[in-house]
This record gives sequence, C-alpha cells and structure tokens, in this order.
Amino acid sequence: MKKDLISIVDIKDELEEIIDLGLEMKRRQRMVEVYEPLKDKSMAMIFEKPSTRTRVSFEVAMTQLGGHALYLSPRDMQLGRGETIADTARVLSRYVDAIVYRAYKHENVVELAENASVPVINALDDLEHPCQIVADLMTIKEKKGGFRGLKLAYVGDGNNVAHSLMLGAAIVGMNFYMACPDGYEPKKDIVGEARKIANETGAKIVITHDPVEAVKDADVIYTDVWVSMGDEAEKEIRLKVFKPYQVNEELVRHAKSNYIFMHCLPAHRGYEVTDDVIDSRNSVVFDEAENRLHAQKAILVRLIKP
Ligand code: CP
Ligand code: NVA
Repeated sequence: MKKDLISIVDIKDELEEIIDLGLEMKRRQRMVEVYEPLKDKSMAMIFEKPSTRTRVSFEVAMTQLGGHALYLSPRDMQLGRGETIADTARVLSRYVDAIVYRAYKHENVVELAENASVPVINALDDLEHPCQIVADLMTIKEKKGGFRGLKLAYVGDGNNVAHSLMLGAAIVGMNFYMACPDGYEPKKDIVGEARKIANETGAKIVITHDPVEAVKDADVIYTDVWVSMGDEAEKEIRLKVFKPYQVNEELVRHAKSNYIFMHCLPAHRGYEVTDDVIDSRNSVVFDEAENRLHAQKAILVRLIKP
C-alpha cells in the first residue's frame, strides 16, 4: 500500500522516527557521505503557487538521494487546459515514483492522492503545510534536545502553517500556545483533532487573543506571514488587524532568555516580525530553512519504496 503525506497526522506514528532520520541525513551530508537509496527513482512536482524553499529542497533532496525530480507548472501542463486532476494523477503514476503537489485547494491534493497509485506529498495547501513542520520539529530537537515540557508560542494567523504546527506539537507532546486576532483562529476541527492527540501525549493546546500570554516563558516563538498566498484580496484589512501581533523586541522580552525564534519564511520584515528579532542571536530561521532539505530526504526515503 502506498502512503501519502497530506496532513502531518498521516505520519503521526512515525513522526519522531522521520525527525531522527532527518537529523541522520544532516550528519551524513556533513560527513560528505554518498547515500543514494532512490537511484533511478523519479518524482513529479506540481506547483500552483510560487516556492523557493520547498521546490529547491525537494529537487536537491531527490538529486542527493540518487533520483530525479521534475518541476511542473500547471500553466505548462494539460491540467491548465482542463485535463482533470484524476486523469493527471493516473498518467503521472505510470511515469514517476512520487508526486509532490503545492495547491490552492486542499480538496485537490486529496483528489490527486485518491487517484494516484504512487505516494502524494502535500507541499502546502490552504489547510496544511506538513513538510515544513517536519523540518521545524527537527530544528527544535536539534536546538533544544527534545519536545516534552517545552512551550511553543505561535503568534499570528490561524493558517496552514499554524494548523500543521499545532498538530505536530500535539503529536510530539510539546505545549502549544497560539495568539491570534479575533476571527483568525485555526479551524475548529483541526483544534479538536490536535486536542484529542494532545490528550494522549500530555501536551497543552491553548488558543488566546493575548500575545503576551502566549509568549510568556516560551522556549520557541514562531510566526508566519499575515497575508498567505491566496489571501491577497484581504491584504489591507489583515495588515491592520494583525498589527498588535507583531513579534518585536518588546514582545520577546516575555519569553525565556534562551528562546529560539522561528519562521517558515518568506518573512515580511517589518510586519509579522521586526529585523531586530529575525536577525537576533535567538533566531534560527536559516538553520530551519536548511533543515527543509534534510527533512525532505527523510520524508522521501520513508515514502518512496526502493
Ligand atoms: N517555507 C516555505 O514553504 O517556503 P517556500 O514557499 O519558499 O517553499
Ligand atoms: N502561510 C504561508 C506559508 C508560506 C510558506 C502561505 O500559505 O503563503
């Protein structure tokens, strides 16, 4: 049976193993070890939206593992001229060993996965960004040594990154506090799912409108853009509503002195985060970005059968 990665919950039982495998991949690369378990494997990558990190890290990951990745824009595919997602999935499954898909709509990722006979990996949609969170958790483990007893404060929009991060924190047993404006909370069913998982792992999931409450004594502060890809029409109103949720020097003073600052990037400097925070010694955003590569390798090795 093929395994898809559409939600971070799809890899709930093996998440910690994949994180450790990502750390192992990083060690291997530091030692300049050649490791090519995916030799002669191919992967299609369909991107409906722009990408720097996800696209490059997946493509380089596949190359380093001995395989080959193809970047496909729907504009250049028959998908852009009305060929169905289901037919695209059936055809690509005859050529490649996995499909990475960045989509506007979560339902489209699900439809592609339902009709593909090879693993489908969600490279971000409107609901989740699971691969990002594998790299984020890997970064937290690298910097803090583990998850239990830590407090992660997410300040900002209840978006795709927030959803996967909340579910990921629940899975690894890390306390998750989120501060967001009224009306920009994460989806209720995702909060419910996270709380159910957290009950088993002992993690706390707290949603508040007060950024200081979220950040107080935090070990990790995380934020993301206020205007996600697809939300551009709401830009003006969002920039106003989110202003009190900026991660700046005044806010981070409430965290532990050895807190780490994280952001999936791209950052909109001067909006959700100020330069003095993202460029501070507490910021690990570029290690986090690097870890996308090592985490993608771990994901690919686990999902693509040799
Ligand atoms: N963090 C992230 O997914 O970045 P890209 O949009 O550049 O892939
Ligand atoms: N929430 C952002 C993440 C970008 C990596 C977006 O969806 O645009």
